[in-house]
Amino acid sequence: MKTYNKLSRLNHWSVAIFFMVMLIAGLTLEYGGLSKADNFTLLKFHKAMGVLLFLWGLWRVGYRLVQGFAEPVSIVERWQQIASKAIHNLLLLAVVMMPVSGLVMALFSGYPTDVFGLVTIPSIEKIDSISMFARSVHKWVAYAFITALFLHIGAALKHHFINRDQTLTRMIFGKIQK
Ligand code: HEM
Ligand code: HEM
Repeated sequence: MKTYNKLSRLNHWSVAIFFMVMLIAGLTLEYGGLSKADNFTLLKFHKAMGVLLFLWGLWRVGYRLVQGFAEPVSIVERWQQIASKAIHNLLLLAVVMMPVSGLVMALFSGYPTDVFGLVTIPSIEKIDSISMFARSVHKWVAYAFITALFLHIGAALKHHFINRDQTLTRMIFGKIQK
């Protein structure tokens, strides 16, 4: 049976961790009630990290599209196969849409984006309608992403603790034991 190789596992877990950190950072920006100065510092980090994750995410999604997905570890009902495919595709779409919408928001905000002092991406122009549209995309895709993520993590835990199959261990260790 096909498994997830080292590179696949590295890109799954690295993108998973960084994107979850970004979701928490984004939600803290919106609802964390931080002081103006702290909000500014966190926003600077969020934008810089988001730009780097755009490149990392493109590599991760591209690699998966070229390599294909591994088939389910155990026999699962057809609706579960369809649901898991749909959620995996939604997660991959969000990995691209989140940084793209964030970048579009920044490019038309009138403010430059400093990427940890490595490069500065200037704003093209301040156009509020585009920036506000990208902001709503950023927000609604984030909510869809969070919902899909709860289902995804729930399914992984169910496979591990209830079905007791190797879905989770295959994504961690790669090996399938007969
Ligand atoms: C604690 C968090 C997570 C756990 C426990 C987890 C677990 C897993 C497991 C067990 C699989 C293998 C599923 C199978 O064999 O059918 C998988 C695949 C996948 N996961 Fe996660 N995951 C987590 C976070 C994430 C995050 C944050 C993303 C998106 C950024 C994500 C995206 C995917 C995708 C797209 C796949 C399909 C295979 C691939 O492209 O790598 N996961 N995950
Ligand atoms: C890479 C993945 C990214 C994730 C997962 C992410 C996630 C989030 C989340 C969850 C929010 C809060 C949304 C809300 O409730 O309204 C947010 C806000 C924000 N994000 Fe991101 N983001 C990412 C990338 C970026 C990038 C690349 C930029 C810009 C260069 C950016 C700029 C912003 C800004 C400016 C806000 C605050 C919007 C406002 O003022 O309401 N994000 N982000």
